[in-house]
Order: sequence, then C-alpha cells, then structure tokens
Amino acid sequence: MTATHPHWDQIEKSLENIKKTIENQALSRDRLAQVLQEVIGLASHADWWSEDRFPPPGEDERQARYLISEEPDQTFALYLNVMRPGKKIPPHNHTTWACVAAVEGEEYNTIYRRTDDGSKPGVGLLEESELVVVRPGTGVALLPDDIHSVEIKGDSIIRHLHMYGRALETLSERLMFDLENGTCKVMPVGVQTRRAS
Ligand SMILES: [Fe+2]
Repeated sequence: MTATHPHWDQIEKSLENIKKTIENQALSRDRLAQVLQEVIGLASHADWWSEDRFPPPGEDERQARYLISEEPDQTFALYLNVMRPGKKIPPHNHTTWACVAAVEGEEYNTIYRRTDDGSKPGVGLLEESELVVVRPGTGVALLPDDIHSVEIKGDSIIRHLHMYGRALETLSERLMFDLENGTCKVMPVGVQTRRAS
C-alpha cells in the first residue's frame, strides 16, 4: 500500500526475502531469527520511517500504528509503531509469529513463561523469564505462543517496526494476561491502525 514510499522497492525486496524464508516452511526459532534480521535491516534506515511521513500520536494519545504493508490475504503484515513514553502493553501472545525491531528509542520487552496448563477458562498464570530491551540494531522474535509485555520508558517518542505473520485485525484469539490476578482474556486490537499517505 505504501507504493508511494520513496524507498518502496527496497522495502518490497526485504519483504520478499521474509516471505521466501518462512512461506511453506515449518516455523522455527532459526527461521524466525532470519526474518528478524530482515526487519532489523529495514529498521536501520531511520530516514525511511521519519516523522514527516509518519507523525507521532497526538498529545492525548500514546500510540500511532501505521500499516506499511500486508498481503491481499492479510498475511505478512508490517507496521510502524510510534509510541510515547508511559505506553504499556500488558502481557499477551500473538497467535502468529512476530518480529519487533527498533528504528529509534527503546522498548522494554518482558518475556513470560506460562505456568498453568490453560485448561481453566479465564485463568492464566505467568512467570517472568527474560527482559529484552529492543533498541536500534536489535530486535525480538516471538513464536505464536510466546508471551511478552511492552513498556516505553524514558522521555522521548520511539519508532519501532512490528512484523506479524497475520494482520493484527485478524487476530481474534490473542490472549491478554492480568499478572496480578492470574487471569487472561481475549485481547482487543488496541488503537486503530492508520494508513500512511
Ligand atoms: Fe506484542
């Protein structure tokens, strides 16, 4: 959709590499690590994702999510997230693979291990397993069942690319966890996705 982006050819080439790596293959951490390298490569061109094309959220909002690309069947969805400090996304899974890479600023990703067996509806117990600070040059890759939370600290707006196996709007079974109460429920999509001009 961002065929008007001045670097669209290069973006498209990278997306093609991602598709080739993962399409019609069994998903594995190794393959996803290759996808993440492509997303980190895309994110390394900070000028491609700048404020003039992708403005920050308004003063009263903490997140602007821009759709960069998706396939006609809503697979291979790439977004740019522009988030203000103070933004917190509670622990959740994605029910599809996800790769996050930083263009600018830091995203604190806490990874969790689920400790219950998921057999009781509404119950979801988690234990922290790792903290990954995603900053420029780095990223995090998550399999469909992996659970993470996100927090933007500091005092500047951050820009991160998020690439998913399927568009967020199609993910109707994602779970969001309440750490304090040991519960979980289906996660809403959050802010409405914007389409860059
Ligand atoms: Fe996420």
